[in-house]
Amino acid sequence: MCGIFAYAGTENAAPLLIDGLRAVEYRGYDSAGISVIDSSGAIKTIKRGDHKASLENLSSEVSGGELAGVVGIGHTRWATHGLVNQQNSHPHESISGVVSIAHNGIIENFIELKDELVDTGVQFKSETDSEVLAHLVGHSVASGTSLREAVIGASSRIKGNTAVVAVSTAEPDIVVGLRIGNAGGIVVGKNDHAAVMASDTIALLPYTSEVIYLEPGEVVEIRKDGVQLFDLEGSSISRDAVVTVQNFEAAQKGNHPHFMSKEIAEEPDAVQAAMRGRADFANGTISLPEISLTLDQIRSIDRVILTGMGTSMHTGMFGASVIESIARIPSVCENSSELRYRNPVLNSKTLVIAMTQSGETADTLAAIEYARQAGALQGVILEMEGSQATRVADFTLGVKAGQEICVASTKTMIASMMTLLELAVFLGQARGVIDANRVKEIVSQMAELPSLISTALDLNDEITALADRLCKYEDLLYLGRGAQLPMALEGALKMKEIAYIHAEGNPAGEMKHGMNALLGPGMATIVCAPQNDLYPKMLSNISEVKARGGEVIAIVSENDETIERVADHVIRVPECPELLQPFVTLIPLQILAYRTALALDRDPDKPRNLAKTVTVE
Ligand code: G6P
Repeated sequence: MCGIFAYAGTENAAPLLIDGLRAVEYRGYDSAGISVIDSSGAIKTIKRGDHKASLENLSSEVSGGELAGVVGIGHTRWATHGLVNQQNSHPHESISGVVSIAHNGIIENFIELKDELVDTGVQFKSETDSEVLAHLVGHSVASGTSLREAVIGASSRIKGNTAVVAVSTAEPDIVVGLRIGNAGGIVVGKNDHAAVMASDTIALLPYTSEVIYLEPGEVVEIRKDGVQLFDLEGSSISRDAVVTVQNFEAAQKGNHPHFMSKEIAEEPDAVQAAMRGRADFANGTISLPEISLTLDQIRSIDRVILTGMGTSMHTGMFGASVIESIARIPSVCENSSELRYRNPVLNSKTLVIAMTQSGETADTLAAIEYARQAGALQGVILEMEGSQATRVADFTLGVKAGQEICVASTKTMIASMMTLLELAVFLGQARGVIDANRVKEIVSQMAELPSLISTALDLNDEITALADRLCKYEDLLYLGRGAQLPMALEGALKMKEIAYIHAEGNPAGEMKHGMNALLGPGMATIVCAPQNDLYPKMLSNISEVKARGGEVIAIVSENDETIERVADHVIRVPECPELLQPFVTLIPLQILAYRTALALDRDPDKPRNLAKTVTVE
């Protein structure tokens, strides 16, 4: 949540700050701003609070070149405290103008600190919590403290996770960055002419592919000729840079109108990538060398809890169903924000698996940390290498889908589902509950998946026509059973996220316990009903909706011959083994949300009030 970029080098900083912010804009687009130390040594700040247009407007404003200077900081905001407007946009300058800061996180005790500062005569310009940091740092710098020590001193007074960058007129050649807790990372890099830092590696790639991830409780100073790390006591830290596998080109839209359409189109490749090096199609085996648990540990597991937020939670629900059915271990999925606070019974026989695209979601990190402290075994399945989650858990399984930019997650989900399927097979085999023949059978089914997904992607045109129908509804119901339930929940979530239509996902068997009261011509129902043992039950549910005048879109297997007699509209997905059905029903659900968002003239890449990386509770 919120994107930070900072530059100290030899070139004009303002346009470079704008470019850096473009790369992290997916983290928040409520406002955008930059502060540059100009040639006279003064701080000049320009910011815009124009919602989704903030960065473009800021870019036009600085394109004249009057903001000259070679050191600066920038910020894209996802609003937590205070309206979306110019005053509340970052960076925030201290009262004396000697310091400017950009902040990511929440300052939980900001009211107390603000009162204290107001009592000393400080007049606040914004309603943000972050502005207290600017004044605390500014006071110290004005009284002669170095910028680094001032930032450390100010951060010691605040409660809550924080990532902050700061510049000062007193030391015009440097930018200081600090990270406390898990409120988003800071990644640092340098080349021969500049040093940079950002919330995400992707913003550093035009400069270098060798990066340093700041750990919680670390401070960094960047200047044109170098980078220096310190701990909070001021001792210097030495750490080698690591070479990132992230690729700048891969994070561009290419010929696609939106990141979302690009990322949906990449789903066959994402699934393929999740199998590479793990599924051996020639011998019909699965290997997961990343899993460092011993055979005894794996055999001792008596419960698996998957946890995550948003789409990652739905992915975890799919994981619970495949782990339980293949590896025969009791498995559930829980929302991380619930798990972390409900004092769950966990022990060394519990395996807690965090699902997270970003590896930064505050609640998910807290849940896995809780699991660690409770002595449970912990695993993380994630997309973003180097993120905090990889440093917390016993093992990490990379999803390998490639960087996802669109706020609404698509390709990460499908690649994570594949990773979970591999994990289920791996656990089942290690525990001796499935034999080599069954593994071979599953692996040969998995091999077909990329082409099945490609076929499902061809449904684009017919779904566009359905999306035009869905636009007129204010309420949608999504139904599924078994492994289709998480897909139904995900279909509803996607529709809410990007088309802003109220949509609810429900177990189809639950309808009679509430949802039926809402059925009627005012609500359309989307049903996930591929051919499997639960299909007859889904047919009954469809009939119940029809009997009450509701319009039904049914997502069914290609050769379904019955469905046309009950549903109004039919989306046919490729025939496949039941294990793979959730993968192929997910595709039309994602496309339906995307097409509906376009039909309603919403920007699917920038859904209102949402951010891709939720680093605060
Ligand atoms: C936000 C994003 C979702 C994502 C969720 C969890 O809500 O908009 O797309 O599913 O966070 O994020 P994570 O990075 O932990 O998967």
